[in-house]
Amino acid sequence: NGLNALAKTQGKLYFGSATDNPELTDTAYTAILDNNMMFGQLTPGNSMKWDATEPEPGTFTFSGGDQIADLAQANGQLLRGHNCVWYSQLPSWVTSTTWNATGLTAAIERHVSTVVGHYKGIPYAWDVVNEPFNDDGTFRSDVFYDTLGESYITIALNAARAADPNAKLYINDYNIEGTGAKSTAMQNLVKSLQAAGTPIDGVGIESHLIVGEVPTTMQENLEAITALGVEVAITELDIRMTLPETAALLDQQKTDYQTVISACIAVEKCVGMTVWDYTDKYSWVPSTFSGQGDACPWDENLVRKPAYDGIVAALQS
Ligand code: G3I
Repeated sequence: NGLNALAKTQGKLYFGSATDNPELTDTAYTAILDNNMMFGQLTPGNSMKWDATEPEPGTFTFSGGDQIADLAQANGQLLRGHNCVWYSQLPSWVTSTTWNATGLTAAIERHVSTVVGHYKGIPYAWDVVNEPFNDDGTFRSDVFYDTLGESYITIALNAARAADPNAKLYINDYNIEGTGAKSTAMQNLVKSLQAAGTPIDGVGIESHLIVGEVPTTMQENLEAITALGVEVAITELDIRMTLPETAALLDQQKTDYQTVISACIAVEKCVGMTVWDYTDKYSWVPSTFSGQGDACPWDENLVRKPAYDGIVAALQS
């Protein structure tokens, strides 16, 4: 019995993993990734982002994204599209142009409708808008917000709905795992989109967490978001520690994974959980947070850690 099989016994749609194209030549890695009893869903870590899919204006490249979409289909796994509109990993033509509102609106609409349209019918969900907020709950200043205000979110969601009416449309962010200003801001955004008739189906709860620091209000927070009439998903779960790893840290990490998965299980409209790659071998953490790592449920030798048992314990309770 793998994690996805267990998640389904809890009424969830999937337990999944992020992956990335360069990793797919690692046959020991793919042997675990490809097992749909273990992982029922894949998210491309990079290859559907704007810099990868539209490196020059109007010129689209889908080879990397297609490889992961094809793999998910071959494995009988769901796909989460990631992502359409984000301040990071933008091609320079987006960040260096001095846009007016009309021009940027057209660029967003072309990008979203072409990318989402290319994969029409395949993804379960799309992270249409990624990381729109600062940690204090104000909107992040970036090329989109600075040119269009909040309307860029509506423009992107409408284009995504038109391009693939069956995909669940999500806004995804980090540091909205527990209650607080950023989660409140996300809830207020959902309410204002709903009031305006803009399509919004879900909120992605990234969950890049720190060992010993899982918010105690996670379940309460997920309940508050789903009470608005949208679903939620744990979209990018990893729980990092300050290295070196110790038995005590690994044990706390096990508890922390169990806590997060249990929160999703307890919330009916938390539809699934995704780890931001399953192994420390390919985690993004060490290159971003110096001195930190070992955030995933499998170690860098592809051996299961206590964290894996914590996930199983949550999925079996
Ligand atoms: O593609 C270039 C390659 O040409 C170059 O040789 C190499 C040298 O550094 O860099 C490659 O780009 C890297 C890219 O990943 C692809 O591997 C970037 O430097 C690196 O910064 C980038 O990191 C990604 C990060 O997003 C960028 O913000 C991580 O892999 C990816 O896991 C991470 O994922 C994000 C989610 O999309 C959103 N939420 C947070 C999460 C973690 O940061």
